[in-house]
Amino acid sequence: MAYNDLFLRAARCEPTERTPVWMMRQAGRYMQEYRDIRAKHGFLEMCRTPELAVAVSMQPVDLVGVDAAIMFSDILVGFPGMGLDLEFAKGEGPIIHNPVRTAADVARIGVADPLDDTGFVMETVKILRRELEHKVPLIGFAGAPFTLASYAIEGRGTRDYENCKALMWSEPAAWDALLTKFADTTIAYLCAQIDAGVQAVQLFDSWVGYVAPRDYERSVLPHTKRVIDAVKTHGNKVVPNGGVPVIHFPNGATSMLDLAQKAGGDVIGVDWRIDMRSAVEQISPKFAIQGNIDPVALFAPDDELEAMVVEILEAVGTRPGHIFNLGHGIHKTSDPEKARTMIHIVHEHSNRIRSGAGA
Ligand code: CP3
Repeated sequence: MAYNDLFLRAARCEPTERTPVWMMRQAGRYMQEYRDIRAKHGFLEMCRTPELAVAVSMQPVDLVGVDAAIMFSDILVGFPGMGLDLEFAKGEGPIIHNPVRTAADVARIGVADPLDDTGFVMETVKILRRELEHKVPLIGFAGAPFTLASYAIEGRGTRDYENCKALMWSEPAAWDALLTKFADTTIAYLCAQIDAGVQAVQLFDSWVGYVAPRDYERSVLPHTKRVIDAVKTHGNKVVPNGGVPVIHFPNGATSMLDLAQKAGGDVIGVDWRIDMRSAVEQISPKFAIQGNIDPVALFAPDDELEAMVVEILEAVGTRPGHIFNLGHGIHKTSDPEKARTMIHIVHEHSNRIRSGAGA
């Protein structure tokens, strides 16, 4: 089969005959094949064992038919290298046993070394590139400074961010020092992924939608922008003709798309809370757009799912640079067959729309 580079072309705003699709969290629990491996191994053990990480990264490529692979890992795997004691507790998600609450706590946090502390990720990437050689491109990823800091400070997932915002407002110097450490770690980590062979990177700012625009602009954006600029510069050196596209995904932040664009990226990821027509109006044509169907649409009947997909595709029309994705991660109870159906619908209708064949 010919190499499928639709995803990379779309990320570079080049024309494509149909719209590429991948799904956030596509390597995960909605697949029986993932659960079979997970039953025998801990989650972090899977992240740290290249053979296992490769196997689950390949599952959605081979069994669901996505147009890009994302390496199996987690945004938090660099935490131990920074002195953060990370555990994935059963049924609870991530826990950090020594959260950062004070300026003194910030001072004890280090910058991780991508090879010494997360060499297993680079090994996974190298093997994956070989496995994917005649298939699809490979996406690497990292958490954005705010999202990483929110886990480090709160010690777990949260919906309120009291400790996080309290530190941001009461100890601005410590806040900046902490986000600088996360930015430095992330720059080195993503550059190492590029050196190992990833063909695009996604920066997940999963929880930045909880921040007010004024705080985003003052206390978050400069750090995110520094990461994106540095990774872009490195990617341009490593891949001279076109560089390595950076997908910037500020989840929940469609009310501040102007600011998110200032932070940069080649592709802006949008969640499902915005109508795609509005996203297309607000996002400058110099960016590609990724998104944005409601992840729960995979629980709708086929005809309704099809209507939702078509609305998004028609809102984008023939504008170059659309990567179809869910507006956030796929839910763990989703039916993989439904995901296959969605991908088929995207391919069929986008081909019709993009070849100008009319409705
Ligand atoms: O997209 C992919 O398929 C690649 C795999 C991937 C995982 N985590 C695997 C995972 C990616 C890209 C991530 C990133 C990640 N991790 C994010 C950003 C993405 C997003 O959703 O916004 C965040 C916030 C995390 C932190 C994290 N990891 C949480 C909150 C949890 C618990 C979630 C839950 O529902 O239990 C994880 C665990 C995790 N990461 C799982 C997987 C497949 C489930 C672990 C398991 O098998 O038990």
